[in-house]
Amino acid sequence: MLIELPKHAEIFGCVKIHEIQKILKFESETFESPLLRGISRNELDEVLNRTVVIIPVKNEKLHLLDGVLRSIPSGCEVIVVSNSQRGENDIFRMEKDIVHNFHRVTRHPVTIVHQKDPGLGVAFKEANYEEILDNSGFVRDGKAEGMVVGLTLAKNMGRDYVCFVDADNYIPCSVNEYVKLYAAGFILSQTPYSMIRLHWRYKPKVMEDRLYFKKWGRVSEITNKYLNMLVSVHTGFETNIIKTGNAGEHGMTMKLAEIMAHSTGYSVEPYQLVYLLEEFWKGDSKYKEATNSGIEVYQIETLNPHVHEDKGDEHIKEMLLGSLSTIYHSKLANETIRKEIMNELKKNEMIKKEKELKKNRILPPIAEMDMKKFIEVLLNHAETLTTYSQEI
Ligand code: GDD
Repeated sequence: MLIELPKHAEIFGCVKIHEIQKILKFESETFESPLLRGISRNELDEVLNRTVVIIPVKNEKLHLLDGVLRSIPSGCEVIVVSNSQRGENDIFRMEKDIVHNFHRVTRHPVTIVHQKDPGLGVAFKEANYEEILDNSGFVRDGKAEGMVVGLTLAKNMGRDYVCFVDADNYIPCSVNEYVKLYAAGFILSQTPYSMIRLHWRYKPKVMEDRLYFKKWGRVSEITNKYLNMLVSVHTGFETNIIKTGNAGEHGMTMKLAEIMAHSTGYSVEPYQLVYLLEEFWKGDSKYKEATNSGIEVYQIETLNPHVHEDKGDEHIKEMLLGSLSTIYHSKLANETIRKEIMNELKKNEMIKKEKELKKNRILPPIAEMDMKKFIEVLLNHAETLTTYSQEI
C-alpha cells in the first residue's frame, strides 16, 4: 500500500491529531520518503495476524453480514456481537447459520455472541462493570454497548489491535480495504496508544435518476464543526483538523482501547475524541504510561466509496442529537459553543428547550473491570457465545 504521510498534525497536550492522509496505490513494496510510505504485503500481514475485527450487528440484511465476513483479510480474528431479534422470527439464529457456514467453508476463525445473553449480564456484574447493564441485569441496547462487549472478548484473545466494521455495508471489498487501512495506520504509528479513524472518500446517494458522490455525510459535517470549535476555543486558533468525528469505522491499539471510555449508542465515536482531549490534554490522567508515550490519532481517507443501509431521517436525528450532546456536555465546552449547539438543534427542529438535551451515559474504560472474573463467569453462564476456531 502506498500512503501519504501526514504533512501536518495538531498537538493537544500528549494527544496528536494527524491531518487526513490519502491512499495513492493499494499495493506497494516497502518504501520510505519524507512524503510517502510504501507498505508491503508482509508488513500488513504481520499486523493483521495481531488484529481482532469486531462487527456489531442489529437486524441487518443477512447477505450484507455475509459479504462483510467474506471480505475480512486473512489472519484477523473476528467477533460478531449481535443485538438482533430473538423469538419466533429468530434473526440471531440465522446470523449464526451464516457465521457457521462461513467458517465451515473458509475455516476463518470467528466468534459470535448475542448482546442480551444472560451470561454477559452476570459476567459484567461480577466483574464490577454494571454501568453497561439495564435494570433487569442485561446489557443495554446500543451500538456502543455491543462494541464494549466485543472489546472485552477481544482483550481475552491477547491480540494487539482491535477494530470495528459495520455489518450494513453494500460493498464487501471496501471492508477489506478498511481493515488494511487500520493496519497501515498502526504501522505508521509511533506510540503503543494509537487510533485510526477512516474518512470515506465519497458517500454516494441516489439523486433523482443517478448516483451522486457526496463528500460528507449530513451528521459528520456538523459534528466535525463543533468538535473543531471545542479545541479552537482553548487554543485561540481556528482549526478544521478533525474530519472524522463520527467515524463508525475505526481501530485502536488494544492498549488504547483498554483505557478508552465510551459514550452510549451513536455518540460513541465523537466521544472518543472528547474523552482523549478531556483526559489527556486538559485533565490529569491516571494513565501515566499513555501520557508519557503520547497518543496519536490518524485519519485516513478510503479509496472505496461507502454505501450502507439508509435508515431514514429519524435515525440521522438520533445520531446528531447524541453527537452534539456529547460536545455540549463536555468540560471543554464554553457558553458560546453551547449556545451555537442549541441553535443548531433548534434549527433542525430537534429540540425546543436546553434541558431536553440529555447527557449521554458514559461507560468507563474496560481497564477498570476484573477481566479474569469476567471471562470465568462468562464461560460458565453464556448461552449464545460460540467460537469457531481454525480447527474443525
Ligand atoms: N451489537 C449491536 N447492538 N449492533 C448494533 C446496535 C446494537 O444495539 N445498533 C446498531 N448496531 C449495528 C448495525 O447493525 C450496524 O452494523 C452498525 O451497528 C452501525 O449501525 P447503523 O444503525 O447502521 O448506523 P449508521 O450506518 O447509520 O451509522 C454508522 O456510521 C456513522 C457515521 O456516518 C455508524 O457506524 C455510526 O456509529 C457512525 O457514527
